[in-house]
Amino acid sequence: MAVQAVLLLILMSVSLGNTQTEMLKLECQTAVGVVGQTTKLCCSFKKNFKADQINITAGFVTKRGERDPLFWFKKGVANGDHRFKPPSLNDPSLLLTDTAVSDEGQYDYTVLTNRGITKEALRINVTAKYNPPSVSTWPEKIEEGSPAELNCIASGGYPAGTIQWFDSTNTNWTMNATLEITEREDQLLHLSSKLTFAKINSSWAPFKCVVLNSKFVKDGETTSHQSHTGDEDRSGDTGFIGGSVIAGLIVIGLIIVGLLLALLYRRRHVQQARRPSAQPILRDFPGITRQAGADADADIDADEIIR
Ligand SMILES: *[C@@H]1O[C@H](CO)[C@@H](O)[C@H](O)[C@H]1NC(C)=O
Ligand SMILES: *[C@@H]1O[C@H](CO)[C@@H](O)[C@H](O)[C@H]1NC(C)=O
Ligand SMILES: *[C@@H]1O[C@H](CO)[C@@H](O)[C@H](O)[C@H]1NC(C)=O
Ligand SMILES: *[C@@H]1O[C@H](CO)[C@@H](O)[C@H](O)[C@H]1NC(C)=O
Ligand SMILES: *[C@@H]1O[C@H](CO)[C@@H](O)[C@H](O)[C@H]1NC(C)=O
Repeated sequence: MAVQAVLLLILMSVSLGNTQTEMLKLECQTAVGVVGQTTKLCCSFKKNFKADQINITAGFVTKRGERDPLFWFKKGVANGDHRFKPPSLNDPSLLLTDTAVSDEGQYDYTVLTNRGITKEALRINVTAKYNPPSVSTWPEKIEEGSPAELNCIASGGYPAGTIQWFDSTNTNWTMNATLEITEREDQLLHLSSKLTFAKINSSWAPFKCVVLNSKFVKDGETTSHQSHTGDEDRSGDTGFIGGSVIAGLIVIGLIIVGLLLALLYRRRHVQQARRPSAQPILRDFPGITRQAGADADADIDADEIIR
């Protein structure tokens, strides 16, 4: 309170000395700050008179709804919230270091110059990017045709965003999910989306969890790597063609093992008749990278060879 009274006295005494025709106006843009970074509060003078230079001598910033200024300065000496840096002699712009969510809001900025005092509203918006989302599944090993849950968590963002779900064919599953938004101690937000299935089908996998920020712009995405019970036995079914990377790698591994075994087999038993099931593999080599349908067939053959 004492601070404010002193400032008011200073400002009043100076403004009395001003002629009415000179108009000095402070203009500030809405600042959009990023949490943890330095935000520049861009302000400038508009005037209707000629002057070589407007010299700033003092000023203060008050948050709307609060009585006392949270930051003030006089002749380059700053007081109050130490994260604010005072303006230079003739540029009223301010810097706010280590921006926090709590800085978001409406302010009033008053500047005392050699040509009078001027006051302007100033808004600070704050944003923070969400951390890359992580997906977990329940149960850990999903059983075909059984109830299941996928959970996607993205934290540390601001303002509130949303989470959407898509399957391997890019079908939108967001309708079957519920989103929960909670506030962390540092006021950043925690998004948690639960996608619930009454009966899951492995042909939908993998699922993609997409995090959108408050402007509905993608902030990040993660693809689920759920494992299904009995994946090994059903390696040839359609779920497989939808194809998770891991399952694909297993097929390629099996094909390679199968090929090696087949080569060994051929070397040792050149004279003997080959098992017919080995034929497609040998014929396909080295076309291992051909698409899943062929791979799945080859995989069954490889299984037979291993046994
Ligand atoms: C503004 O400050 C500068 C540097 O201190 C000084 O040289 C100049 O005369 C001042 N101008 C006015 C109009 O007070
Ligand atoms: C700042 O936030 C307010 C309230 O959320 C919004 O209306 C305004 O458009 C934002 N301004 C900018 C420049 O982002
Ligand atoms: C899974 O989906 C596929 C293709 O949509 C379908 O043929 C199959 O019957 C489904 N499986 C179950 C257990 O519902
Ligand atoms: C997905 O579905 C949700 C909920 O119905 C909807 O809000 C969203 O816009 C959809 N996303 C896309 C990319 O279609
Ligand atoms: C997804 O939600 C719809 C509508 O609530 C429901 O009919 C459907 O059974 C759900 N799908 C699964 C796989 O649970």
